[in-house]
Amino acid sequence: MSELKETILHRRAIRRFEEKQIDEDVLQQILEAGMYAPSAGGRQGVLFVVSQDRVVNEKLGKIKRANSNPQMATATSYVSKEQPSIADDPNLKNAFYDAPTVITLFAPKNFLFAAEDCACAAENMMLMADSLGVGSCYIGQGWMAFADPYGQEVLRSWNIRTDYYAVMQLLLGCPKECDSHPTPKPRKDGRVLRF
Ligand SMILES: Cc1cc2nc3c(=O)[nH]c(=O)nc-3n(C[C@H](O)[C@H](O)[C@H](O)COP(=O)(O)O)c2cc1C
Repeated sequence: MSELKETILHRRAIRRFEEKQIDEDVLQQILEAGMYAPSAGGRQGVLFVVSQDRVVNEKLGKIKRANSNPQMATATSYVSKEQPSIADDPNLKNAFYDAPTVITLFAPKNFLFAAEDCACAAENMMLMADSLGVGSCYIGQGWMAFADPYGQEVLRSWNIRTDYYAVMQLLLGCPKECDSHPTPKPRKDGRVLRF
């Protein structure tokens, strides 16, 4: 199997992290993977804002959780039993799961392909992270973390242009050493149609 295929099959959403920070050279490689992702029209409009400030990350994660209203898990319908999400465990009060590194991807508000550009960059970064032994999790609806006065203050302190918005966050950290690597859900049949 190619190394790329191994990484693609191995990558899982990680939501339980060690406290220690990821290495700087590893972070740089993950950012480079994001910067080399495809972008609509080759515009490279995505901004990658890295926060390793635990206080800021925790506050933003709690704002995001408070603004989220996920459909909670049931016995038969859940996100992950091994790495519970806020939809699985109502006791989780931080939608960033105490990840030591939170990268918010911003893109222009009036750009049709803002979300797609960010998603392409995020997937490159998640695969690079996995290949370097770092856990990652994609967090959608990134703007919700800034939807209160504290979040707005953070945006100003980061000098984010007002014509850009937070599309998503990418969480990074070392997976908890006591956890086994999550197993993927079985792939659903019938999703490939050929004519
Ligand atoms: C667009 C998108 C939004 C997501 N948003 C969240 C989120 O807000 N919180 C979270 O814990 N996981 C989020 N995830 C991660 C998914 O829950 C995860 O990818 C999915 O359960 C499949 O698990 P796997 O990544 O381990 O294969 C998101 C993933 C995608 C692609």
